[in-house]
Amino acid sequence: MLTDYLGGIEKKLASFTLKFSSEDILRQPSGQVLIIPVFEEEDTKDLFLGRVDRRLAGGLARKIKTSRFQGKEGEYTVLSPSDFAYETVIVIGLGKRKQATLPSLQKNLARALRYLAGHHLTSAAFSLDPTPYGPSLFEISRFLAEAFFLTGYQFDRYKSEKTKKKTSQVTALTVYLPRRQKNLDQCDKGAAFGRIVAKGVYLSRDLVNEPADHMHPETLVKTTQAITKASQGKVVAEVLDEVQCRRLGMGAFLGVAQGSERPPRFIIIKMKKGKEGKRQKICLIGKSITFDSGGLSLKPSEAMETMKIDMAGGATVLAVFKVMADLSSQKLINDFAYDLYGILPACENMPSGKALRPGDIVTALNGMTIEVLNTDAEGRVALADALSYAEKYLQPDYLIDLATLTGAIMIALGEEMTGLFGNNQTLVDRVLAAARGEGEAIWPMPLYQDYLSKMKSDLADLKNVAAGRYGGAITGALFLSEFVKKETAWAHLDIAGVSYNSGEVNGLLAKGATGWGVRTLVRLLTSKL
Ligand code: BES
Ligand code: ZN
Ligand code: ZN
Repeated sequence: MLTDYLGGIEKKLASFTLKFSSEDILRQPSGQVLIIPVFEEEDTKDLFLGRVDRRLAGGLARKIKTSRFQGKEGEYTVLSPSDFAYETVIVIGLGKRKQATLPSLQKNLARALRYLAGHHLTSAAFSLDPTPYGPSLFEISRFLAEAFFLTGYQFDRYKSEKTKKKTSQVTALTVYLPRRQKNLDQCDKGAAFGRIVAKGVYLSRDLVNEPADHMHPETLVKTTQAITKASQGKVVAEVLDEVQCRRLGMGAFLGVAQGSERPPRFIIIKMKKGKEGKRQKICLIGKSITFDSGGLSLKPSEAMETMKIDMAGGATVLAVFKVMADLSSQKLINDFAYDLYGILPACENMPSGKALRPGDIVTALNGMTIEVLNTDAEGRVALADALSYAEKYLQPDYLIDLATLTGAIMIALGEEMTGLFGNNQTLVDRVLAAARGEGEAIWPMPLYQDYLSKMKSDLADLKNVAAGRYGGAITGALFLSEFVKKETAWAHLDIAGVSYNSGEVNGLLAKGATGWGVRTLVRLLTSKL
């Protein structure tokens, strides 16, 4: 069944095995390949590399010398020794020891795993000295698990068996820690945590990669229901149809939706997990345009090619709920002291005889009127009602939206960085710290108030596009800010660039959907707010 994303992911991950060991990696080998990480320009004689080299009668040192390997990040050298515990040895560079971080370790491991997969090698042993990565084996293992599972991600449900076979994966990894390492149970816990986070990223990627032909507002509803069902009561959802949205006065959201044959759905998902008493509320909103043709302000065909990704914000919000529910049911997080809400205003932006026309005026749930001059700036119009709904019915302390909002953020920051806007420095700093802790690139952007005047309309309270193209990501964010109360701490993440990798595989990223934000939000929600 094509809509059973959760079941599909479980099945995929079941074929991956990750183990931790403090046995001797040479005496009790496991797998075809031995991965040896080394820092730049270090004397390796007394390190593990030196020990392997002695076993290989100096063969490894010779190979390192002839290949001019220095241990720089991204460098690697490969040896296939005979009469050794492993059929292949790959030495990978980690860069400078002083600059060692867990996100960089992830990228380096990912690179090695991809190299091995490309050479049809499917099982490996990784020798790791955890010392440079801090005291927490839990954290280290969590990062390693994410690297292992995420590099294994593939979206192949539309490939025939014949085509699928051409690609292979590293499906078994054993991480060897120093002998007599204590607290290996922390490794298993960290790996379980990382596996759940990776599962969330898989979910977000699957939903975004799914062609829009199969990704309707109703598909997001079905996925929401699968999440609530699996959570055994931890997560509940409410879904509003067109009639209910009309009754609440969501003229903006319904305006965006009205050109499509597929009915809109306004999804509200909740996880009330706090202790009784005073609880803070956090609300996550995800832009959920299941396809953005531009509407009557039709996009040129090239710009439309990837517009199935315009629900990436919503996919990420659903994935975060899945992760939080699973972490909680596996007792990997304590009860947190807040209630978590998610909102997905899900609809399709299509041109038709029923579609919104440029110049039409819609009224949002908070009573504000919007002159829609460009039907392709639809995300902000749909989000106007989601933000208004959150303010009116949920009154959150923290409001965070994720949206593939503007092409302009790609001009500003490229394809690898999220643009972060916000009205509350504490929240902005926490989101930045969470993203940087996870190695998800992000940069703060200004909510420069003076540009708001560019969105003044002659006929309505606001128009949906600014006069002139410059500063488009800022004016998009400013538009949203008009629907947020001053006293609500709000952050807006423009993920238009980062949601989709149009280039080659890169570290933890496959081609296509990236799942940007799942990890950042999970880190934010599992640390103290
Ligand atoms: N969904 C797009 C933004 C987008 C562009 C996402 C590229 C991912 C990759 C959004 O709805 C849009 O079309 N924005 C317009 C706004 C403009 C008309 C003010 C844009 O960025 O061109
Ligand atoms: Zn658009
Ligand atoms: Zn859009």
